Amino acid sequence: MATKASHWYKDAIIYELPIKSFYDSNGDGIGDFKGAIQKLDYLERLGVTALWILPFNPSPLRDDGYDVADYYSVNPIYGNIDDFKAFVAEAHRRNMRVIIELVINHTSDQHEWFQRAKKAPEGSSHRNFYVWSPSNDKYQGVRIIFQDFEPSNWTWDPDVEQYFWHRFYHHQPDLNFDNPEVQTEIFNVLDYWAQFGVDGFRLDAIPYLFEREGTSCENVPETHEFLKKVRAHVDEKYKGEILFLAEANMWPKDAAAYFGNGDECHMNFHFPLMPRLYMAIRRHNRKDILEILDKTPEIPDNCQWATFLRNHDELTLEMVTDEDRKYMWEEYSPDPRARINLGIRRRLATLMDGSRRKMELMNVMLFSMPGTPVLYYGDEIGMGDNYHLDDRNGVRTPMQWNSGLNAGFSTTNPQELYLPVIIDPEFHYESINVEVMENKPRSILKWTQKIISIYKQHKAFARGSLQMLEPANEAILSYIRSFEDEQILVVINLSEKPEVVELDLSAYAGRKTVELFGGNHFPAITDKPYLLTIGGSGYYWLKMV
Ligand code: GLC
Ligand code: CA
Repeated sequence: MATKASHWYKDAIIYELPIKSFYDSNGDGIGDFKGAIQKLDYLERLGVTALWILPFNPSPLRDDGYDVADYYSVNPIYGNIDDFKAFVAEAHRRNMRVIIELVINHTSDQHEWFQRAKKAPEGSSHRNFYVWSPSNDKYQGVRIIFQDFEPSNWTWDPDVEQYFWHRFYHHQPDLNFDNPEVQTEIFNVLDYWAQFGVDGFRLDAIPYLFEREGTSCENVPETHEFLKKVRAHVDEKYKGEILFLAEANMWPKDAAAYFGNGDECHMNFHFPLMPRLYMAIRRHNRKDILEILDKTPEIPDNCQWATFLRNHDELTLEMVTDEDRKYMWEEYSPDPRARINLGIRRRLATLMDGSRRKMELMNVMLFSMPGTPVLYYGDEIGMGDNYHLDDRNGVRTPMQWNSGLNAGFSTTNPQELYLPVIIDPEFHYESINVEVMENKPRSILKWTQKIISIYKQHKAFARGSLQMLEPANEAILSYIRSFEDEQILVVINLSEKPEVVELDLSAYAGRKTVELFGGNHFPAITDKPYLLTIGGSGYYWLKMV
């Protein structure tokens, strides 16, 4: 075990960056590594400290690259291995870390392992790189994740005359982790990319590695044991500086299990918290948030949650009750076309009906709750979406740089773009773009830069404990983040109306307060109830001095 790890991920601000969508350097309509390098200065100005880049391996792109056809090279549409290395070097030069994807639950059916498996004799190791069965009644009752697209987790292979197992699309067969040779291959893939200096891996779809009869085939003990092995390997080889960020879309207790005893993943997305932030601002009530935080177990010291508002997938509603899902669908996607699987394929700005105040409020929650914030590209400018596009493509459209051709993303013929730019009247790229916003002191982009810079100056946000206050007014979400001698009082008005709140802060009597966004002095704390008025969708970060 590494003893002197820096835990850099605890202080990080992660930016989710799909190479395909960011900037096209060679005018073929597809973003690429060379293009992303040109935009690193922008990200440095924004203030983010780590870049999570989405799959860039060769792939038939039937699941946007989460269908890997070759783990050892770069899809030529994005560049080559030298471009990748240059990207890592240029990010590092700007003190930004690079996190890449490790998609190991499954491969594309085009991967040579799968093609080889189909030809290999039954019972051979090559055949058993994947999970086969003569009948489709094995592992009965395991839920289907892409339920709008797949009727079963088994698909018949006419060549092999057997079924193969897949938790996602039928063109993404699951690897068989019971086969030791598969495990060895995974170690090799990890070492291959680690040698280029990547700082972390997002472990895609990690709960599904092993299947066991009579279980949900999720989170089984063997999966955790394997993760411990992988972690021990990287800790030993890379001195404990390589991050594992789990994608385990589970209830808090099962999700927290991916931290192990601090010997599995360093970070894991807090999937259950995310939809509850949306519920809370719609219900004008903090109770959904408090409940889920209550259910969230303590985690090992070297671990941290990753928090997020949106990502490249649908806003998933798997970790809510049926009733809450219905509520979320009715409130946030009255048009059924905006729904997909168990979620909503919209971006933050459209979910907030374009309300600047609410976008701010959501970000204030993101940045002040425990966990490392993860931003989704484009949300810092309030980018729109297009749910008339297939699958989750509506939230994966080209980044909007200026009001010129193709939003400044590419010089190609607009018809050749990998996806069309956003031209919805309310969210048209002519006004929602980086250039416009960099020149406007009060733009959402400038505001995002500001919240990031405040966040970085106060360790309590990244590292502090949380003490929940429960004032009588339930529209107010309020807590104290505390780290060493730094205490920050967070007050958030979930309602759209001005509210009054009284907080019991007697334990801090004698301290003065400064509001961090404006720098103004607020009333000093006494042993009497601390009275605040707060505008609709308003918020304060009050530092105690
Ligand atoms: C993860 C990815 C998603 C992908 C799926 C299958 O959930 O975030 O985009 O479709 O894994 O690989
Ligand atoms: Ca290109």
